[in-house]
Amino acid sequence: MSAIIIVGTQWGDEGKGKATDLLADQVDYVVRYQGGNNAGHTIIVGDTTLKLHLVPSGVMYPDVTPVIGDGVVLDPGVLLEELDGLVAQGIDVSRLKISGNAHLIMPYHREMDAVTERYLGKQKLGTTKRGIGPTYADKAARVGLRVQDLYDMKIFRQKLDAVLREKNAILTRVYNRLPMKAADIETEYAVYAERLQPYICNTMQLLHEGMERGETVLLEGAQGTMLDLDHGTYPFVTSSNPVSGGALSGSGLGPKDITSVIGITKAYVTRVGTGPFPTELFDADGEKIARIGHEFGTTTGRARRVGWFDAVVARYAGRVNGLTEHFLTKLDVLSDFETLKVCRAYEYQGEEYEHFPDDFQTAIHKSTPIYEELPGWKEDITHCERWDDLPDNAKRYVEHLEQLMDVPIRWVSVGPARRQTLERTI
Ligand code: IMP
Repeated sequence: MSAIIIVGTQWGDEGKGKATDLLADQVDYVVRYQGGNNAGHTIIVGDTTLKLHLVPSGVMYPDVTPVIGDGVVLDPGVLLEELDGLVAQGIDVSRLKISGNAHLIMPYHREMDAVTERYLGKQKLGTTKRGIGPTYADKAARVGLRVQDLYDMKIFRQKLDAVLREKNAILTRVYNRLPMKAADIETEYAVYAERLQPYICNTMQLLHEGMERGETVLLEGAQGTMLDLDHGTYPFVTSSNPVSGGALSGSGLGPKDITSVIGITKAYVTRVGTGPFPTELFDADGEKIARIGHEFGTTTGRARRVGWFDAVVARYAGRVNGLTEHFLTKLDVLSDFETLKVCRAYEYQGEEYEHFPDDFQTAIHKSTPIYEELPGWKEDITHCERWDDLPDNAKRYVEHLEQLMDVPIRWVSVGPARRQTLERTI
């Protein structure tokens, strides 16, 4: 009986899709526990490249049940479009299960996301404009509509009428937008309700009963630790909890069900959107990494900001998630550098810090990275099949990160394909 959590240790886009996909072979359920279609996973299996935003990557495996958990916010139109796309590629999506507790992203949430960003001007967060923040805000304010509300259209309409009164007042009077019509939304969502019905179930019960039968669960987070609403670089964060604690509330499993927590850690760091990023590069090295690493968002296509590996962030992620091991991704992108920099600590107000200082919010804006320089390697490592095949300097780089993070690195990824993963004995 076991449940494994996979969590991004940086600002998202660490390559969780690949790790999930690799481990999905060994599990019975793959559960998305938070976020919505603000995420993007690229999965490459053989000749097929799949871009998933909401459907858990386990959908690729006939023996895996993909689950959209209680903590997710779900845009039904987007989900159905994604399912249609998968079906068109010959993928069977009939095993998908969706929690009735998941909150629905509504048209006014998308609209609010876009207009509030515009009003924030220079202080905007750079959201994905998918309505994620406004949906979670309504969830917390207890005026959200949930997947289960789709199955009693009378209740759905009652709740919608109540919430739309307030939303329309804000949209028209504050933001100078047109009001939305409840009848239009009801008609649209009634169609979704019919199509989604076969997938809805009590996913918490499904998972517990599966585990009681000895089945295994993989909980996959979207985004990353530093985008966590409570533990990230607030306010430049997403509105949910990608950290391992969020995997429990977002799925209905308990702490004793968890057997390991795998941190997905890129060999360098990227970030999309606004917010502090101590090791950010503004030079040719950064451009080179972005180009070779194809650092463009899967969901929004936006160019990602790029920086050197940051051990302070990695140590923080180790603590806040209780990481048991790391899956290091995209090491191949760092081939062909004379030297590589690694941030081992920050300098802040004349002091050196291996962990974030108490005033995290200010410190992360004002810290200067203290770098170490390691020798690079020139060899193409994308064909390496075993750890021992790696050039010495590549091994040294990985071992050095491991030492700095104090959590073992069990897997090293040297390319996007499933076979380009080296497993180490730890
Ligand atoms: P939201 O999640 O759309 O509200 O956006 C909030 C912040 O999280 C923005 O800086 C986004 O760029 C960032 N973000 C959201 N989803 C992802 C992701 O999957 N990868 C990386 N950044 C993300």
